[in-house]
Amino acid sequence: MTTPLHVERRLPGGFLADSLRADARAGLTAVPKSLPPKWFYDGAGSELFEKITGLPEYYPTRAEREILYETAGQIAALSGAGTLVELGSGSSEKTRLLIDALRSAGTLATYVPVDVSEPALVTAAQALIGEYPGLEVRAVVSDFEHQLGLPARDADGAPRLVAFLGSTIGNLLPSPRAAFLARVRASLAEGDSLLLGTDLVKDPAVLLAAYDDAAGVTAAFNKNVLAVLNTELGADFDLDAFEHVAAWDAEQEWIEMRLRAATAQTVHVPGIELTARFTDGEEMRTEVSAKFRRESVTAELAAAGFALREWWTDSEGRFGLSLSVPA
Ligand code: SAH
Ligand code: TRP
Repeated sequence: MTTPLHVERRLPGGFLADSLRADARAGLTAVPKSLPPKWFYDGAGSELFEKITGLPEYYPTRAEREILYETAGQIAALSGAGTLVELGSGSSEKTRLLIDALRSAGTLATYVPVDVSEPALVTAAQALIGEYPGLEVRAVVSDFEHQLGLPARDADGAPRLVAFLGSTIGNLLPSPRAAFLARVRASLAEGDSLLLGTDLVKDPAVLLAAYDDAAGVTAAFNKNVLAVLNTELGADFDLDAFEHVAAWDAEQEWIEMRLRAATAQTVHVPGIELTARFTDGEEMRTEVSAKFRRESVTAELAAAGFALREWWTDSEGRFGLSLSVPA
């Protein structure tokens, strides 16, 4: 007998539709134009992201999986977690290493994947329920920047482990990132811990290839945000009239993803009664992916009230995984 899947929708009705409209209006009228990254992930976008994670150029997923494979036992022992909460869980693929270790340690009762993409979340949660009989899986549809969705501790008071993998933290700009970490800290108590995956600064050529693969999957993923605006807001973006751009900003130490208008064009967005004009070659930012150093991660965690307990990297030093606790 498998436990049934609970899906909790934490967002008020219409929240996502309203915030997509607000983001599209703000972003398409800004100078320069920009769109926030969470709208990449409709059903098709989540599938494209899964393809990215298997690309030869996209090393972060493999590097983080290697670290988790090596350290999951230690993470289980150090955290003693009864509840594993994962923010931006997506396919929950690497998470299986943590679940396995926490089950072997005998502490894990509940897994709480939190994601804004309901199709990806439900598919992943259904699969886990089949694979881990007796594990309670509580899937939470939420925007972790709006409502974290962390459950209270179970009645037995077992500690919670919050995992935020895939360097998704790097997709937040510095100020929202600091605010986000502070909110995670505020919702945790003594004994809980945070497991944070952060991609590290390295040769820009390696970074650029990871965000501009030869097969064009990242380009399709980037353009998917336009398809989302077409579907949700009735816009008439011509995806072929935009080019995918990935650039390394050496000062900010982040990769910037942009969409460049291949020609001057006018786009209608009826859902927000907006007409957006693009000049020839105009670039619209769709994503940043910040790259970190051990010192910057430690400092950002400290500023949010966390103390670093462990820091691990993969064998090639490409990716960092940190375990920290309330300071
Ligand atoms: N953790 C997985 C997936 C990373 S992709 C991995 O490491 O491979 C980023 C995930 O975060 C996507 O599933 C996306 O839907 C989710 N996401 C992005 N912004 C979000 C937000 N504001 N709130 C909740 N989930 C978000
Ligand atoms: N968190 C991932 C990263 O920063 C997300 C990502 C990977 C991504 N490839 C992308 C986002 C391409 C936008 C475009 O690596």
